[in-house]
Amino acid sequence: MKIAVLPGDGIGPEIVAEAVAVLEAVGKRFHHQFNFEEKQVGGAATDQFGVPLPDDTLKSAQDADAVLLGAVGGPKWDTIDYALRPERALLSLREQLGLYANLRPAKCYSILADASTLKREVVDGVDILVIRELTGGIYFGQPRGIAKDGTGEKGINTEVYTTPEIVRIAKVAFELARGRRLHVTSVDKANVLESSALWRKVVIKVHKEYPDVALSHLYVDNCAMQLIRNPKQFDVIVTTNLFGDILSDEAAMLTGSIGMLPSASVGESGGKRRGMYEPIHGSAPDIAGKDLANPIATILSAAMMLQMSFGLEKEAGVIEDAVLSVLNEGYRTADIYSEGTRKIGTKEMGRLILEKILC
Ligand code: IPM
Ligand code: MG
Repeated sequence: MKIAVLPGDGIGPEIVAEAVAVLEAVGKRFHHQFNFEEKQVGGAATDQFGVPLPDDTLKSAQDADAVLLGAVGGPKWDTIDYALRPERALLSLREQLGLYANLRPAKCYSILADASTLKREVVDGVDILVIRELTGGIYFGQPRGIAKDGTGEKGINTEVYTTPEIVRIAKVAFELARGRRLHVTSVDKANVLESSALWRKVVIKVHKEYPDVALSHLYVDNCAMQLIRNPKQFDVIVTTNLFGDILSDEAAMLTGSIGMLPSASVGESGGKRRGMYEPIHGSAPDIAGKDLANPIATILSAAMMLQMSFGLEKEAGVIEDAVLSVLNEGYRTADIYSEGTRKIGTKEMGRLILEKILC
């Protein structure tokens, strides 16, 4: 199994190193051969090669069976041209690899419920899967740009969704709901946007093939409120690229720390199934290189890779159990620390999880 490893910027290299070590431990215990190929991406690539996604990096990602990514971006590159920004690498990878479905599970571990800014009784037991459409909508729609006009300039972006784009993401949602609690909430802004009206119409049509799954619809503003008011009403949320970007950050905070949440971006291109796995948090430049970052989101992303790209369910479960038992023993990185628990760094957290896997 060939894995392209793209550590990226900020805390990326530290957390990815821990996830790679965990995968190696899984390989050792279960006799699998993982071949890692490490490449630069994001600001690190811009510094070294002048572009955030060098051809060599893209090729490695295309040749691999799965991609493990750390994080990209940082203040150093915030003022450069859009085309050269670290974020561009992420968007190009999504586009080039055809990663149209982004899965962001937000699960609140009971032992961490007090780390949330919301009340324990509201978040304890939350288990939501946000499915975000990832290669369409306003992120990619044309026309876009900044143009001169009579008043000075105008900035333009376009929200576009086609029937096939909506059909395939709706199918992902209904299929995954079948392995969960059989409830899909489709989120749109159909009271204002035509693209959303089509979204809703198509989701309703696709739903006819999944009569065993319950479907509800929410406008995005209401959904943002309901997520805070009563998050346990949600099972699977399916939504557009931009709404999913926003709602998945909100869902993440229900669980206490964004440092815990993995993600998978899946799809297909060149006749091959694709998967890219990354923590949903960013590059956290303020704590980079200080052994403070929580590697769990990346380690759990590696578990999602094993399950979704390689069908290694048991191995994925072993990683999840290892994470849980280390947390149960009271070990915490700074972001999830609370009084009475033991504060440890990135490396130590990685090592403890790895030990559980090997024993
Ligand atoms: C995310 C991020 C990205 C996005 C940025 C870094 C381009 O916020 O993956 O949620 O907006 O998709
Ligand atoms: Mg985001």
